[in-house]
Amino acid sequence: MKIITNSEKETFELGKKFVKKIKPGDIIGLIGDLGAGKTIFVKGMADGLGVKQNINSPTFVIMKIYKINTSQIKQFCHIDTYRLKHAQDLINIGADEYFNQPHAVTIIEWADKILNILPKKTKFIKIKHKSESQRMVEY
Ligand SMILES: Nc1ncnc2c1ncn2[C@@H]1O[C@H](COP(=O)(O)OP(=O)(O)O)[C@@H](O)[C@H]1O
Ligand SMILES: [Mg+2]
Repeated sequence: MKIITNSEKETFELGKKFVKKIKPGDIIGLIGDLGAGKTIFVKGMADGLGVKQNINSPTFVIMKIYKINTSQIKQFCHIDTYRLKHAQDLINIGADEYFNQPHAVTIIEWADKILNILPKKTKFIKIKHKSESQRMVEY
């Protein structure tokens, strides 16, 4: 499915709606350039899942876990591999533990950098710049 969004808010709302398609244990890989709107989409998903804390880009910490009380999904794991040098480093910090958690959903920005360690079941979302305020989201 390909969807054009015309603003940050539309991408947020799309992320929020997207959570209806996910189930506990899912792993979602986001692929798109810097400024494509990956983090905005993640924020929308978090809102849709009932995450109460503010979502910031985990660019500097690589991984953040948010607890959820209002859903079958109990944890929302947000990974950003932007500053990661090697996929193996993610395994070293134990992030791959979340790939097999039946009650967690893991979303990974720059998933294309770690394809070699992602499980086969990973679902991908691509976000492309169309213009300054337009993006194409594909899943
Ligand atoms: N249609 C759109 N969807 C998402 N973001 C948009 C859109 N149009 C403009 N933007 C801007 O693009 C930037 C996207 O930032 P961000 O989500 O942090 O990107 P990424 O995580 O992919 O690097 C924000 O500054 C946002 O305001
Ligand atoms: Mg980001």
